[in-house]
Amino acid sequence: MSGLEILVLGGGGREHALAWRLSRDERVARVRIAPGNGGTPAVAETVADLDPLDPSAVARHASRERYDVVVVGPEAPLAAGVSDALDQAGINVFGPTREAARLESSKAYAKRQMRRAGVPTAQARAFTDLDAAIAHATAEDAAGRRLVVKADGLAGGKGVAVPDSLDATHEAIRSLMAGPDGGQILLEERLTGREVSAFALVSGPMVVPLAAACDYKRLGDGDLGPNTGGMGAYAPVPWFGAEALDAVTASVFEPVAWLMARDAVGYRGVLYAGLILTEDQGPMVLEFNARFGDPEAQVVLPMLEGDLAAALLGVATGDRGAMEGSLGTRRGTAVGVVVASEGYPDAPVTARSLDGAEPSSSADDGELLVFHAATQRTPSGYETSGGRVVTFVGRGSDLVAAREAAYRGVAACELVGGQYRSDIAERELADQSESV
Ligand code: AMP
Ligand code: GLY
Repeated sequence: MSGLEILVLGGGGREHALAWRLSRDERVARVRIAPGNGGTPAVAETVADLDPLDPSAVARHASRERYDVVVVGPEAPLAAGVSDALDQAGINVFGPTREAARLESSKAYAKRQMRRAGVPTAQARAFTDLDAAIAHATAEDAAGRRLVVKADGLAGGKGVAVPDSLDATHEAIRSLMAGPDGGQILLEERLTGREVSAFALVSGPMVVPLAAACDYKRLGDGDLGPNTGGMGAYAPVPWFGAEALDAVTASVFEPVAWLMARDAVGYRGVLYAGLILTEDQGPMVLEFNARFGDPEAQVVLPMLEGDLAAALLGVATGDRGAMEGSLGTRRGTAVGVVVASEGYPDAPVTARSLDGAEPSSSADDGELLVFHAATQRTPSGYETSGGRVVTFVGRGSDLVAAREAAYRGVAACELVGGQYRSDIAERELADQSESV
């Protein structure tokens, strides 16, 4: 069999990591990417002028090029129906249809499916009427219960408020109802516990647990500041190992995959469960995403051994043997630290020069990996083009070594106004020293 030809859609750090990892597989002949970023030419050929949000353009291009599989990175092309168009064109695609991707694109839909499948999740009610939502929040507050306010649709990490007072709850309801989702919001019971992102490969009713990682969503050290798309991550998670992932596969991934398959909306791709580990009720789902996390992918993918391309193709074609295939986990730990632009997340300052962040190429497999996101290449070097600019991923035999490698990368990075967290994976070190 000749080598696999793969198209990756997307242009973030996740897609640089995906293309890097796929390009290292022995059976892969060529990886192309659209739109990619300033760093991805080190791992994949850029397809010029292909809009990943245009389903028919993607399907036309993919038919012409006869890719073995198209791997969709971000949520927006899924919600735009790119997978549906590729299905119609008979192209293998790793990524759910628009209908199945509603597990991410509509929180109300995800809640309904979880209830039907018996998946543990926070209680929630959907509202489109402002007065009814305000009244519900007031009554819950009087009963001593705290709420989380969520916009129904995709909001790029900005659709969730975790207010600490009734006034702030009311304000969040008003502002999220004024958002672009036709005003639908969810008022959800507030849970407490450690959070973890769990990933499984799903193809119809077939589920293969993949990995878990911890993400740091707040902008600042000590979990202060606004929510972001994610400022850093580490994997594996010492307190959420293979057994915990298997348990969540049985309680979350399989019931949802089976329900969707039974409803003939078979899910296909990676399913990401954002979990909170509650003391009294165990792991509960906060949200589903229809894709790899970013920056979780940047730490999960470098820790996977085996033939990733074959596994993703197996998901696309419904081949269980290939899905389970050869994937394993490397020993050691990966820690990823994101460097973001000044002003991120509200108003990132762009077009600044970026130095000391040479993007990882397919040949790189060392202790420091550098995945670009919002960058572009100019004649004089790299320039920023958005909020999250680059993820430095350190790998080491333990957390200390991995952190050191990642922060060595960050220290060498030159970006005026660049923001990063200095405490990624630090709490694990504190935990470890306590347990010694
Ligand atoms: P989500 O986009 O649903 O993952 O929400 C973003 C963040 O808000 C999560 O990572 C949690 O920190 C927080 N959050 C969401 N839902 C809840 C909940 N029911 N209880 C407590 N915190 C939550
Ligand atoms: N890092 C969180 C996400 O990708 O949604």
